[in-house]
Amino acid sequence: MKIVVTGGAGFIGSHLVDRLLGAGHTVWSIDDFSNGKREFLAQHASNNRHTLIEGSVTDRGLMKNWIDKADVIFHLAAVLGVKNTVEDPLKVIEGNIDGTRNVLELAYPRQAKVIFASTSEIYGKNSELPFHELSGRFYGAPSVHRWCYATAKSLDEHMCFAYAKKGLPVTVLRYFNAYGPRQTNSQYGGVIARFIKAALNGEPLEVYGDGTQSRCFTYVDDSVSGTVAALSPNANDQAFNIGTNRSITIRELAQLIVSSADSASPIISKTYDEAYGPGYEDMPAREPDLTRAGAVLSYQPSVLLEDGIRKTIEWYRNRA
Ligand SMILES: NC(=O)c1ccc[n+]([C@@H]2O[C@H](COP(=O)([O-])OP(=O)(O)OC[C@H]3O[C@@H](n4cnc5c(N)ncnc54)[C@H](O)[C@@H]3O)[C@@H](O)[C@H]2O)c1
Repeated sequence: MKIVVTGGAGFIGSHLVDRLLGAGHTVWSIDDFSNGKREFLAQHASNNRHTLIEGSVTDRGLMKNWIDKADVIFHLAAVLGVKNTVEDPLKVIEGNIDGTRNVLELAYPRQAKVIFASTSEIYGKNSELPFHELSGRFYGAPSVHRWCYATAKSLDEHMCFAYAKKGLPVTVLRYFNAYGPRQTNSQYGGVIARFIKAALNGEPLEVYGDGTQSRCFTYVDDSVSGTVAALSPNANDQAFNIGTNRSITIRELAQLIVSSADSASPIISKTYDEAYGPGYEDMPAREPDLTRAGAVLSYQPSVLLEDGIRKTIEWYRNRA
């Protein structure tokens, strides 16, 4: 197939491109390099089935040029990261709405399938675990910037389902805390990438709040397996949780990373206020119900957290 991957030079996107090219597809990766890196796709430089296009998903002319030739669009380009949501909410809102609208509007006339990267954040503060795809959303007040990412992705999902109602083949994937090689490890990146960076540099691992908040982390190979499985027509017009059921608290995670990296780094605590400014809200736990993904996509995560963390540490070590 001819496939567009937006955000193709990013963390999940570049692993997805590896997998799609490996399966024999033609892939056009579109990225503005706001967070992605050319080096993540350098291994495909001489592959004539891959084209790397520098540009923004908000550039309608550019997007039309590629979507007009595509059978499928994996739409992963987005502005994410908790720190971005509290520092620059407008960038997050615009960065998540405008491009998605372009992708759906342009895919519709030619009925090209859209697979949209949504997030477990969508469930917000809902406390009824595990989250099923039909579970409700519960957010804090709009003046709390933390919720702008979930709200923008919610609107994106509404747009996806509105186009599905008009007949466009659309699948929504809700990723639960993906981690692995190539994830941003700056202060804007995921917690595993940041903890590994600190552990390898002998710096303190900063746990926010009391550290009892828990998450289910997903190795990127598993996230990509779920993503590719969404190509099935059986997946049309539905959302799927893509995660694992292994729950771990953030303090335990810090301990696991320190011991896996043989690091002498201390684990310290920081209040949410110190980390993100006053008024920040977090959810105490987040866990997916994977029944639907298992039944429709045959999705079954296979990488143990300990193994995934070891591989990720190795990658950052080699890179350094
Ligand atoms: N990593 C996770 O745990 C996670 C969890 C839930 C959802 N997601 C979603 O998965 C997708 C991929 O996330 P990721 O972790 O790989 O992040 P990432 O930042 O590594 O990837 C996003 C990519 O999009 C690119 N991009 C941003 N704005 C763009 C624009 N206007 N035009 C073109 N490219 C643009 C960035 O340069 C980057 O390469 C995102 O949609 C994200 O919301 C990720």
